[in-house]
Amino acid sequence: MADADNPQSEQKFQTLRGFMDVLPEDHEYFTLIKKAVRHRARQAGLRRISTPYLEETGVFVRGLGESTDVVSKELFTLESRSGKLMSLKPEGTAGAVRAYIEHGMHTLPQPVQFYYIEPHFRYDRPQKGRFRQFHQYGFEIIGERDPSIDAQVIHIAWKILKDMGIDKRFDLQINTLGTPTARGEYISALKNYFYGKERHLCSDCQNRLESNPLRLLDCKEEDCQILSSLAPKMQEYLDQESTDFYESLKAYLVELEVPFYENPRLVRGLDYYTDTVFEFWDRSQGAQNAIGGGGRYDGLVEKLGGTHTPAFGCAFGMERVMMHLKEAGITPPPKDRIHVFVAQLGEEAKKKAMRLVSDLREEGIHTMGAMGKSSMKAQLKMADKFGVDWTVILGEVEVRNGTAIIRDMEHGRQEIVPMNTIIPEIIKLVGAEKRDRYELGE
Ligand code: HAM
Repeated sequence: MADADNPQSEQKFQTLRGFMDVLPEDHEYFTLIKKAVRHRARQAGLRRISTPYLEETGVFVRGLGESTDVVSKELFTLESRSGKLMSLKPEGTAGAVRAYIEHGMHTLPQPVQFYYIEPHFRYDRPQKGRFRQFHQYGFEIIGERDPSIDAQVIHIAWKILKDMGIDKRFDLQINTLGTPTARGEYISALKNYFYGKERHLCSDCQNRLESNPLRLLDCKEEDCQILSSLAPKMQEYLDQESTDFYESLKAYLVELEVPFYENPRLVRGLDYYTDTVFEFWDRSQGAQNAIGGGGRYDGLVEKLGGTHTPAFGCAFGMERVMMHLKEAGITPPPKDRIHVFVAQLGEEAKKKAMRLVSDLREEGIHTMGAMGKSSMKAQLKMADKFGVDWTVILGEVEVRNGTAIIRDMEHGRQEIVPMNTIIPEIIKLVGAEKRDRYELGE
């Protein structure tokens, strides 16, 4: 209700542009995704890490590259009272590497294997599948350089999509950017090729030519694409080590039966990649709205102040995964469903009802009780709205007789049962296998 002394009290608030509430219905999807991720991560010995949402801005500027879109346009940055610049994390890799260095994890058995399920923030123009706050699950394997690591992580990422029943909606695209030396030579060749053709490039690409020439290759503008298709190919600049690494990766993917496409023009939006890069593209939309991607980043630990340490990782957008689950008609198991409603009338009945609600919950039966003062009719209506199969009714007569009524909501049938048998009776009706019991240590 409006407050007469405070006109602002009428103001209606809503979420910021690009920010979303994750409502209970969507959390059911998130739970399904998290379960699939945790299960596969644990099987492979990965352990969960959470880094802070805010980091010193330098972690991202140095880690992801100053000229990348994510850093130059999309960071949410704020200034501390002492003038320090801090940014909300736009991705998880730089923070995980900062943590690896900060906690001296090079002394642990290598590689150190992380997974994370976290919100991230990018100040991008919101559109379908693109938000300013979004969630990613990701994997980072730090401390070993071997193509079998790359293949295994890609395999796990693909398995998770398969577990959720959506793998067929994506094509895995892979490429290699070569070692930093080979990549440097390639970038010089690219620049030479594009010099003199600047006026045919879009304004973004004219800037990219100096700041980040590799990004020219995946510009979506038609003229830029035509020019890129005739540009020198990375493959011509690969040194022997990069070629061998890439060949082994492909052989391992074949061995693990992961289907893939080689895409020599696949580059990624972050500067830290070396050698392998990959993305899972939506079959119906191509590069737009990739569901996930990653690659090798052998230079990042050093860039952030550690010793040279090779690494590999990837991340997937959970809102995009959820969108695909919904489109594919996959519904999460209805874990939040209420089994039983307890209705009561009168003070004595209310006491008994409270006890019963608690005892049923203890037995793993999802139970709601109407503890207000509404009429029996209103309570039964409420039970109907919650879609429960069974309602237990406790009135003054039942309390006096030591009984309760169980109402079958679908058929409207009622049965009187002794109060001391109500719990086993309900368990039988709901089905013992549907009980939601949880033990720490499980
Ligand atoms: P990325 O390709 O920038 O990689 O993001 C990974 C995934 O996050 C994307 O494929 C997409 O599904 C999701 N995503 C990114 N931005 C948005 C957005 N604005 N709205 C919704 N979803 C989004 C990385 O972040 C790297 N850190 C991956 C990695 C890990 N590389 C090595 N290790």
